[in-house]
Amino acid sequence: MDNHSVTVDMGSVGSAQSVRDDIPTTQVISPGSLWPLLCNALFSLVAYYATFKIIPKVKEMFVSAGFAGVDMSKKDRHKVPEAMGVVSGAIFLITMFLFIPVPFAWNLASVSHNDVVFANQSVRVHADSVFPHSEFVEFITAILCICCMLFLGFADDALNLRWRDKLFLPTIATLPLLMVYYVNCNSTTIIVPKPLRELVGYSINLGLLYYVFMGMLAVFCTNAINILAGINGLEAGQSFIIAVSVAVFNIIELRGIYHEAYTFSLYFILPYIATTGALLRHNWYPSQVFVGDTFCYFSGMTFAVVAVLGHFSKTMLLFFIPQIFNFLYSVPQLFRFIPCPRHRLPRYSPETDTVSISTTTFKPAQLSFLGRLMYHVFRMFRVIRIVKEEDGMVECNNFTLINLALLVFGPTHERTLTKRLLILQIVCSCLALCIRYPGASLFYDVGN
Ligand code: UD1
Ligand code: MG
Repeated sequence: MDNHSVTVDMGSVGSAQSVRDDIPTTQVISPGSLWPLLCNALFSLVAYYATFKIIPKVKEMFVSAGFAGVDMSKKDRHKVPEAMGVVSGAIFLITMFLFIPVPFAWNLASVSHNDVVFANQSVRVHADSVFPHSEFVEFITAILCICCMLFLGFADDALNLRWRDKLFLPTIATLPLLMVYYVNCNSTTIIVPKPLRELVGYSINLGLLYYVFMGMLAVFCTNAINILAGINGLEAGQSFIIAVSVAVFNIIELRGIYHEAYTFSLYFILPYIATTGALLRHNWYPSQVFVGDTFCYFSGMTFAVVAVLGHFSKTMLLFFIPQIFNFLYSVPQLFRFIPCPRHRLPRYSPETDTVSISTTTFKPAQLSFLGRLMYHVFRMFRVIRIVKEEDGMVECNNFTLINLALLVFGPTHERTLTKRLLILQIVCSCLALCIRYPGASLFYDVGN
């Protein structure tokens, strides 16, 4: 992103790009400059401190405005300020706004304008041709999309939107991102894994389907975090671990030829880690604040934005292994093939101060064909536990990863359960990196 940038045709780069998620036609390569990244890290430290200090100060304000939820896994079921993701999100945005000039500082210094006379009026025109307009537009659009989602998430916390809208709104908020992708890159070709090349060739151009995939990525990321929730620290904790995993992956890739895309991703991920880390400290057991749907929307869009514009959407999905599992496991209830209560979070037992599985009750005979099929398949593979079965009525656990963990380990303290699920998230991130690196050579030609 500086004046020494040169544009190369990726077709001539060789096989090193083969493990990337797509093949951009052109890529700007410039001598690596770490100072904007260091500056970003410094901004992030300040953002962490600001988020950590501001949250306790605004708690009462949120409660008086009606943003509060009952902590269902506590003896006194006290009210906790909700939608606090709006604070971490707002500080994230402020950090990004202040950071905008930094990566472009060198170019901004060299921008010049000429005065020309047009229709009897003096007009200032841009005389500089080296300013990286496309990177600048990507940057601003990424911020715009995240800003939109923060607003929509806050609207959800305030108005309790229907599930239909929860799916629809992130799709709309992604449109500017897809538009910029189309104008700047429009690379919709994917490299085919080695075992399938005999059948379909070296690469496939997915065209419009690739845009559908990217749009769905944002919808998936936002909702996947939101449905793996309900115990103290889990929403913020899983997002924090995913973000750290993305940062590790980006840092590893900084030495590669695509370092600009990964640097771009780090500009967003570092402030995100900082603000989420501060929020997590207040959300950790016993929660002083709840993050709300605002946080899930904001997080999902941040991940989608860096994945799309950093060109690593498939790798991003690898960091979502627990969320993908939880989504697939939840499908029967999400699409109402099996009754889904308003809350599927674990059931609290005040006598033992532990949480255990929450349940749903239904008559299998009254389910649709697909509902019955899913119920029998899940039962056959023993991924659900039948608690009670009488008069054709069945009571079994809700289909969530949290309940599955409780089935495996038994009733436990809420904090222990959060820790176990976060350890699983870390293990899956390590697995994702193994698949992405040593594993990738089985399926793709990996260059040096
Ligand atoms: C999603 C889940 C729902 C789960 C809820 C918990 C699906 C389809 N929906 O719904 O099953 O119960 O998240 O967030 O899977 N809460 C706690 N302790 C916590 C966090 C939340 O008790 O640590 C409770 C509070 O009452 C809080 C409420 O959950 O007010 C937030 O629920 P909300 O985010 O509105 O639920 P959904 O996202 O609609
Ligand atoms: Mg929620």
